[in-house]
Amino acid sequence: MIPITLPKTSSEDAERTLFDTIEAQFSLSDEKLHDIVGQFLEDFRVGLSEYNHPMAMIPTFVTGVPNGSETGTFLALDLGGTNLRVCEVKLLGNHEFTLRQQKYKVSDALKTGEASVLFGNYLADSVDAFLTTPSVSPTTAAQNPFAGSSAIDEINPEVDPALPLGLTFSFPVEQTALNQGKILTWTKGFAAKNAIGHDVVQLLQDAFNRKHLHVRCVALVNDTVGALLSRAYTAGGCILGAIFGTGTNGAYVEKVENIAKLGDAPVRKSGGEMVINAEWGAFNNTRSVLPSTPFDNKLNRKSINPRYQAFEKFISGMYLGEITRNILLTLIDAAPKPLIFNGFSSSTLNDHYGIDTAIMSEIEAAWEAGRPQDAHVKPVEGAHDPVLDTSAPEVPHTNGTKAKEVPHHFTEVDKASPEDVARLEKIRGIISQLFFIDLEHVSLRDAAIVRWAVSIVANRAAQLSACAVATVLIQTGRAKLGGGIIPAEDRVIVGVDGSLIQYYPNFNARLRASLRMLVGEDVESRVDIGMAKDGSGVGAALCALQAIKQGL
Ligand code: GLC
Repeated sequence: MIPITLPKTSSEDAERTLFDTIEAQFSLSDEKLHDIVGQFLEDFRVGLSEYNHPMAMIPTFVTGVPNGSETGTFLALDLGGTNLRVCEVKLLGNHEFTLRQQKYKVSDALKTGEASVLFGNYLADSVDAFLTTPSVSPTTAAQNPFAGSSAIDEINPEVDPALPLGLTFSFPVEQTALNQGKILTWTKGFAAKNAIGHDVVQLLQDAFNRKHLHVRCVALVNDTVGALLSRAYTAGGCILGAIFGTGTNGAYVEKVENIAKLGDAPVRKSGGEMVINAEWGAFNNTRSVLPSTPFDNKLNRKSINPRYQAFEKFISGMYLGEITRNILLTLIDAAPKPLIFNGFSSSTLNDHYGIDTAIMSEIEAAWEAGRPQDAHVKPVEGAHDPVLDTSAPEVPHTNGTKAKEVPHHFTEVDKASPEDVARLEKIRGIISQLFFIDLEHVSLRDAAIVRWAVSIVANRAAQLSACAVATVLIQTGRAKLGGGIIPAEDRVIVGVDGSLIQYYPNFNARLRASLRMLVGEDVESRVDIGMAKDGSGVGAALCALQAIKQGL
């Protein structure tokens, strides 16, 4: 990264120019967002036509979405980016379900060690431990798990006593059937050895067999597909499942006739629809349209997978803290005079990935608290769905998003209102506590600068996320870039999951503001974005049901 040196006659003006320059690097014009969507559509087209493209557009062999009447009890195993979850999911058939789960953290040693240890000693052992905990009695485990389901006739527990399990595996996998697929690459900090090119279901099943577990992995599903299926189950339909969490990706319902790379495969001949896992985290790895700043370039260079997952690195929870850390370090290191914290840093700030996106979320929440809320918080359909905030965000000015102009508090803290001072005081405390910097070195102005840095990073992430959602709406004929098409449905249902969209203040509202600009208000107002509650567990269960119906 280019070190920042202020002009010799350093003054408020010179500093202001520097902050403006950084802010400009993070602002995206409407035109830029349009260009990004244009490239996205092109990459969708290429990915649907040929194999081996970074944006893999993976056919999932899921050929329909549930309507909420499905029933049955299934095991689900969910290996995401941060956690491993083992769940027992009961689909009740009335758009509702119950779920019991155990959550485990995945250590860095497991992420980067031998795949046999990850699958054998960890995944299989976790399922074993779950099945033998007192609340899952052996009787439950031995019962026919499909009592009352339409699949009951198709499995005979006498013949196959194994418990059916759906695996949610949130990494790129080239699927060849609902229960088969080779790992293409690792993402999100994983690098387990001897896994790439192997069938993930086989790796898991071998581990179960070695441990003599009566569990059969019948279906493999990406978390985005899980989100799509689970929102369809609770809401009665869904066209896109998207994750904005540790990583980002989307799965949507595509016409089989458009999936040219399936060639003459029998599944293509039968027509209809199939869910495509886009793997949009790998969009534009060449960065020809993505708006890289020096802070992004540093992140990329020092990441475990330089030049891969470009889009994800601008958006997802794994990386936003690191981009912010890169900005803050540049301000600490500025010469001849540091621009924040009296030039003091800390081991948290010095450590690679030392700042968690959750800290950014806390800073933004402290800033938002006490701000008069706009009245139009729209509830999201679905009894269990946590409500996503759609209120107007207070974000740095960016063209076209109609954001409220925020004064540059950090150059004018002395002019801030008492309410703003109180909010900044709170942020000062958070910074000192979570960045481990002595309070005496954190001024109110520093607090305002940190809040500003956090918000330009998050705002850009939300704008880019909107580009991905807009691409799916356009690809499926529900919108036109710039507006002008009214979708046939009154309600275009999207299921989302992930810490960023669920917890990050205003992420959803910021995303929607850009979506409105990209596809027009008519379309945007029909898009119903709701949490796909427990998407990975419920989605895996629904996929397991579909697999059993297919006799897998
Ligand atoms: C990464 C994975 C992808 C997953 C996403 C969200 O992008 O490659 O498969 O869906 O993270 O977890």
